[in-house]
Amino acid sequence: MDNERLIKSSSRVKAHGEVFTPKRIVTLMLDQPELQEPLHSLSATFLEPSAGEGAFLVELLKQKMAVALSKSTSATTYSRNCLIALSSLYGIEYLEDNVEMLVMNMITTFNQLYVQDITNFAKKPNQHVLESAKVIIRTNMAQGDTLKYVNADGKPILLSEWKQVDGKANLVQRTEYTFESIVNESGPTNTVAGETEEMDLFAGSGFFEEKPKAKLHRYKACRWTDIYKQEIENLP
Ligand SMILES: C[S@@+](CC[C@H](N)C(=O)[O-])C[C@H]1O[C@@H](n2cnc3c(N)ncnc32)[C@H](O)[C@@H]1O
Repeated sequence: MDNERLIKSSSRVKAHGEVFTPKRIVTLMLDQPELQEPLHSLSATFLEPSAGEGAFLVELLKQKMAVALSKSTSATTYSRNCLIALSSLYGIEYLEDNVEMLVMNMITTFNQLYVQDITNFAKKPNQHVLESAKVIIRTNMAQGDTLKYVNADGKPILLSEWKQVDGKANLVQRTEYTFESIVNESGPTNTVAGETEEMDLFAGSGFFEEKPKAKLHRYKACRWTDIYKQEIENLP
């Protein structure tokens, strides 16, 4: 998004309403007073339902990583706080080339800031943090049609909740949900559900179509820095 290219082609604007938001508008919008509290909470979630190449998500990540730094007293807490902040950001984007750019922009931003700011604690970057960040980004940035709740294969869009295990600050439990269940059912608490109220207004023709059942995984609770292992729980 460096050179502020806001339009790729007129046919894409016509077909998908693809016009990217200029950085100064993103900054202005994120400066709104009602966003300051969630922006200063590492775990308060944000969902961008038409994420493009990440104009909003990249800026949200920058701001949340600054908060992570301000709340950290060691390389260990900084690493964990960065992953908690990252895991709170979700994006859905229809066009596959945009999803690729979105994932790349998020990975680049996370890596640059983490590698730069870990030096505040006189430590080298932990490769497991960088690998775990990639898994979180590839999981939270989903390709799909937000209005129909399905991806390009016609399968339900899946999102994962990353929840700290009660009483154990260094452990996280990852749980998969269909995006549709988050929007239309109670979904997990204090997660993307609260950020998607306007979805119902726009849910259109695909709403009542029969959709294939999703196979949901339950992952083993693990340390934040072991997320990259993606160990699945063996259910009986
Ligand atoms: C106006 S652009 C905004 C992109 C980004 N939010 C920004 O501010 O730069 C809208 C984006 O939504 C995507 N889009 C259009 N219809 C969609 C749908 N049904 N589900 C998910 N994404 C969609 C387009 O591909 C495009 O990237």
